Amino acid sequence: MKVTKICCIGAGYVGGPTMAVIAQKCPHIQVTVVDLNEQRIKDWNDPNTDNIPIYEPGLSDVVAEARGRNLFFSTDVEKAIDEAEAIFISVNTPTKTYGKGKGMAADLKYIELCARQIAKVAKSNKIVVEKSTLPVRTAEAIKSILDNTGNGVQFQILSNPEFLAEGTAVTDLLNPDRILIGGDTTPEGYTAINALVDVYANWVSKDKILTTNVWSSELSKLTANAFLAQRISSINAMSELCEKTGADVSEVARAIGMDSRIGSKFLKASVGFGGSCFQKDILNLVYIAKSYGLNEVADYWEQVIIMNDYQKRRFSNKIVQTLYNTVADKKITFLGWAFKKDTNDTRESAAIYVADDLINEQAKISVYDPKVLKNKILSDLDYLDTRKSSENADAVLSFENPYEACEGAHAIAILTEWDEFTKYDWQKIYDSMQKPAFIFDGRNILNAKELKSIGFIYNSIGS
Ligand code: NAD
Ligand code: UGA
Repeated sequence: MKVTKICCIGAGYVGGPTMAVIAQKCPHIQVTVVDLNEQRIKDWNDPNTDNIPIYEPGLSDVVAEARGRNLFFSTDVEKAIDEAEAIFISVNTPTKTYGKGKGMAADLKYIELCARQIAKVAKSNKIVVEKSTLPVRTAEAIKSILDNTGNGVQFQILSNPEFLAEGTAVTDLLNPDRILIGGDTTPEGYTAINALVDVYANWVSKDKILTTNVWSSELSKLTANAFLAQRISSINAMSELCEKTGADVSEVARAIGMDSRIGSKFLKASVGFGGSCFQKDILNLVYIAKSYGLNEVADYWEQVIIMNDYQKRRFSNKIVQTLYNTVADKKITFLGWAFKKDTNDTRESAAIYVADDLINEQAKISVYDPKVLKNKILSDLDYLDTRKSSENADAVLSFENPYEACEGAHAIAILTEWDEFTKYDWQKIYDSMQKPAFIFDGRNILNAKELKSIGFIYNSIGS
């Protein structure tokens, strides 16, 4: 079986970039990305590819090359499903905010809607690919819906989780560590697996394409995110101990990272990890473990989240304590709002929680982020539902110029590791601030020595 037409349901941070790269690398395959969100599709179709809805280095060039040739963005979900041999489900799977599993389990309502729509529309055999991150054994539910509500056609369900990180999505997709494809261990299952292997083999070498059973693939995705997040919580736990003992967490990270069994990546102490997935996926893992009665397993992983929440709170507490135990009416400038550099995504960004704490202390927050717009900052705070929207608007100002954002500030907090922050004229910023001028470097990116010699009181994480 050969895939010639792909439909991807969900034009978000995963669906958009993933399909753009598949289309770029497979000009012989027609790729249609569909979404219910009309504005999002409109933005993907913006004639100027610099205006596409997701900022990722290199993405606008990939879209410019493939869009209109074999890459299409559309709201006509049914047509795209009908035409395709392979349908990727790439919709959001947020943490449930209601009912059983509230605050822990993944909300699968969008996945189920997709399955029902595919079942309704499909008139020929289809491969349905789980691209979204899903609880282990979700394929069983999808298959049951497809088989019981469909038109009698055959469906093969594959799990093909995505491992890209935001900010490096295009390079991750072009040069992945591995592609994981899980499918049924039946002749039909192997045929479907091979069809998808052939798609990726257009640019990924076969030794990097791993095939497994469906459950291993589904669970590997949650496991990978849990292990990655656990490393950050582990080094963040050590960061507080470093602050108490005179050790320096960057030196400790370097020392342990040179042990090839540990490795040097993902050991950067910070104000805490953000992003739409680490927290949600670990909570989901905890929920799954609990649902099997594996309480010790659940408690073990939950600690990664507890540590991360603590690290964010610890950062805001430190700001308040250092500023003589009051930040009321003081101007605190946030450099960075995105959850990491090189993305405009702010989901679960540590900045949101630190700002919320400081607004509770009646601070005035000024924000500069190179890619995040004012409306997003306010809507992130409103989403927390801690106070009235008008109160958030009174407490937070957003700037398009970092120097203006810092003018008159009592303190600067670095919340995102944008490279440009390291290149600023810090003397000029110092001169424009209230004295003593404080910096709280939540990302450990600035040059401590230089800042101290200017006169800043410089605080980093873990030293
Ligand atoms: P997203 O919210 O950016 O995009 C999801 C899109 O799906 C939205 O545009 C939404 O309108 C659309 N959608 C929802 N239901 C739909 C339906 N029935 N029909 C058509 N469109 C529908 O989410 P995302 O960040 O792209 O994440 C998608 C999945 O990928 C999640 O499961 C996530 O855990 C996983 N994932 C995300 C990343 C990442 O870096 N963001 C990386 C790996 C895996
Ligand atoms: C993460 C994983 O890295 C991807 O493999 C995965 O596909 C994705 O989640 C997902 O499933 O959504 P992402 O969240 O986009 O990717 O970005 P990361 O680079 O993992 O960073 C996550 C957070 O951890 C950021 O806030 C980052 O600043 C923080 N971080 C990362 C640290 O604080 N220290 C580090 O050493 C590394």
